[in-house]
Amino acid sequence: MHQKPIRRLWRQARLATLTGTDWGLLEHGALLTEDERIAWVGPVADLPSDLSVDEEHDLGGGLLTPGLVDCHTHLVYGGRRADEAELRLNGVSYEQIARAGGGIRSTVAATRAASEEELLAQAVRRTQVLRQQGVTTLEVKSGYGLSLEAEARCLRVARRLGNETGLSVRTTFLGAHALPPEFEGRPDDYIDAVCTWLPTLHAQGLVDAVDAFCETIGFTPAQTRQVFEAARSLGLPVKLHAEQLSDQGGAALAASFGALSCDHLEHLSPEGIAAMKAAGTVAVLLPGAFYMLRETKLPPVAALREAGVPMAVSTDHNPGTSPALSLPLMAHMACSFFRLTPLEAVRGITVHAARALGLHDRGTLAPGQRADLALWDLEHPNELTYWFGHTPCRCVVVGGEECS
Ligand code: NIG
Ligand code: FE
Repeated sequence: MHQKPIRRLWRQARLATLTGTDWGLLEHGALLTEDERIAWVGPVADLPSDLSVDEEHDLGGGLLTPGLVDCHTHLVYGGRRADEAELRLNGVSYEQIARAGGGIRSTVAATRAASEEELLAQAVRRTQVLRQQGVTTLEVKSGYGLSLEAEARCLRVARRLGNETGLSVRTTFLGAHALPPEFEGRPDDYIDAVCTWLPTLHAQGLVDAVDAFCETIGFTPAQTRQVFEAARSLGLPVKLHAEQLSDQGGAALAASFGALSCDHLEHLSPEGIAAMKAAGTVAVLLPGAFYMLRETKLPPVAALREAGVPMAVSTDHNPGTSPALSLPLMAHMACSFFRLTPLEAVRGITVHAARALGLHDRGTLAPGQRADLALWDLEHPNELTYWFGHTPCRCVVVGGEECS
């Protein structure tokens, strides 16, 4: 039986729709939702006088924006790496730690030792913090299991996160994140294994996209290509940790597979930029990892802007290089470190972040879009990149339902 949609009117707010090339500010705005979609957006004065709704929500004079999208996280893992962070602050490099078997591998050991319920409980807590700071959609990568069983466990946790928290979660298989100890000295064999796991994980409905870490301390372009070919044969989109510590030509490789995004990009070349532009690939900038690794090489933001490559910003939440759980803080840092404009950074945590996940139904306030909203104690959306270290988010709405 076809049920009548629930119509909700949201009023008494300033709206930042982000639909055009500007903030899309509506001073006295109103928004009408029907079930999980936005049905109408406009000035409150334009609302029909005879409008009938099921619920009316007074937004108390706050600022309403699209719900934020965190498009790159490694949120499911066991343990923590504060000791490693301390080592780094005492002068040991990330690469030295990785080569000595620490780094990602120590998280792999802790993740393998954790039960699915433990992993879920920790991931739920982290997701709630993201939500308290405006996030309504997030991507979660595997990559700390590195065996079929442990990768499946992490991806199941990512799937369950959506049900537990009410947020939209997209899953990414990152089996090619690091070499597990049982494959020491045999990276090609490991990549063969990763490619055989992928169809199994996909058949279980656990994979929305496929990622790899193409780097001197990760996998070569040839190994990355093999993973991408396995993804393509299943019709799965790809993305890539590319040009983080060196220029491997990863961005151009990923673009040749029509990648949704290339992420990090501090060492991105002009050729990589051109290939990303031609393929419509989003550049995901990760200032949290840049900051924590105390990098000095900046991603080529001016050239990306000039080329018209859409830029997104994400937390890259992970226990090694970016234990960050505030997307507005990352937007702030993208402005201060990478010189994004406040508008670019806010588009980077909304509409462009959605695009980095292949999602075109969120990230702006417009009819037909998902009713994923964030309500802020702010006067203007440029304050999203201004304040740092506190949480001006009052609540989020996910699919038309108030969520926190
Ligand atoms: O995105 N670059 C590789 N992966 C993560 C770091 C993972 C870790 O150190 O645990 C990143 O920065
Ligand atoms: Fe990452």
